[in-house]
Amino acid sequence: MARLTLTALMTLLALNGLSFGQDKDQGKPWTAKPEVIEKFESRRGDFIYRESKVPEYQLPDPLMTTSGSRVTTPQEWMRTRRPELLQLFRDTVYGNRPDVDYKMSYQVLEEKTGLFEGKAVGRSMQATVTIGDRSYSYPFTLFIPTKAKKPVPAVIHINNRYFLSMDKVIEEHDPFWPVRTLIDRGYATASFHTSDVCPDKKDGYEEGVRAFFADGKPPEDKAWRSLSAWGWAGSRILDHLETLKEIDSSRVAIVGHSRGGKTSLWAACEDQRFAIGYSNNSGCGGAALSRRAYGETVARITSSFPHWFCPPFADYGGRENELPVDQHEIFALLVPRAAYVTSADEDLWADPRGEYLSVVASKPVFELFGKKSIGNSTMPALNSPRHVGNTGYHIRTGGHGLEQQDWDWFLDFADGQFKK
Ligand code: GCU
Repeated sequence: MARLTLTALMTLLALNGLSFGQDKDQGKPWTAKPEVIEKFESRRGDFIYRESKVPEYQLPDPLMTTSGSRVTTPQEWMRTRRPELLQLFRDTVYGNRPDVDYKMSYQVLEEKTGLFEGKAVGRSMQATVTIGDRSYSYPFTLFIPTKAKKPVPAVIHINNRYFLSMDKVIEEHDPFWPVRTLIDRGYATASFHTSDVCPDKKDGYEEGVRAFFADGKPPEDKAWRSLSAWGWAGSRILDHLETLKEIDSSRVAIVGHSRGGKTSLWAACEDQRFAIGYSNNSGCGGAALSRRAYGETVARITSSFPHWFCPPFADYGGRENELPVDQHEIFALLVPRAAYVTSADEDLWADPRGEYLSVVASKPVFELFGKKSIGNSTMPALNSPRHVGNTGYHIRTGGHGLEQQDWDWFLDFADGQFKK
């Protein structure tokens, strides 16, 4: 009997119009290049950049409750396990948002029409939160396509680098927030700068919205930290988008890079209205599994950036195996919605493999809901986006950054989710 080699079998399947597996990756699965590993080891030693050095670990089972029973239905997940898991993350990692009544209001500071060859309207906006007679404001910039016949999907972008005003966006294309691309592809989009909500520095508490909520009192150990506050600000922009008839608020993605990517994921855990959480190169405290301790570790991130996470997280530095949660459960909290994750070839600090495996490890929860998701623990090849059901992932050539290519591939995924 003739034997078929694997390559021959794949060619045969391809000739018959069938693809082998669930995606169409080409090339070899990604692995870190030896020269990149060496570069990291020489510049930022003391951390792990080799798979052979990753400690043994066992991930918590997202479907197992703290009392030891296993969740078997979507209803049980939503009613009991999801709230329990969310609370574990709040108490251990990101902190609890304040339970205080407040009002929001939104002001259009300036509007420009006929932008980008008549395809969009732009607005300089201000969001204001009011408690009693005190208020706190932060700016955001909004663009809406004007030629659409039906309400459009939208992308909320968390800018952890700088504030992009309406005029700056009109003057110059910035791939960190490529408004023109978004408009051309039929999306409305809004962006705000993290530091306008909470200054991104160790000693910025007093000037930010967290101190405003606490009326100047110092934060308790389990109170929210900056990542949660930035995510909260994204949700308040979504509140505004919900009031605009041009926008379909059931199709809104939240996007962030690096610390902004840690924020976008957590924002989508706290706020189930976000249809897609997209984390770009988010690494430790974002998409990457803490237990791998590859690249940036819990000990390092909590000492360099103590204002991002609540203090209990720091206690797990060096004993990640004891964490009651790990970052794959962030994706579990997004179920049955969608998640998109990216890595970059030279961004070993963010642990590309840990970011990928985290998505894979959330699969049992997608399955519980009858949703497809990435389950192949072998990574895709470089520059070969993998989309399976409600999850998508790519690893791009180059280093840490949110680039035009990341956006283009993300929007392909979003188009698929939103059936555009
Ligand atoms: C630092 C930090 C990362 C973070 C990154 C960024 O490198 O260690 O955790 O993601 O800054 O936000 O750019």
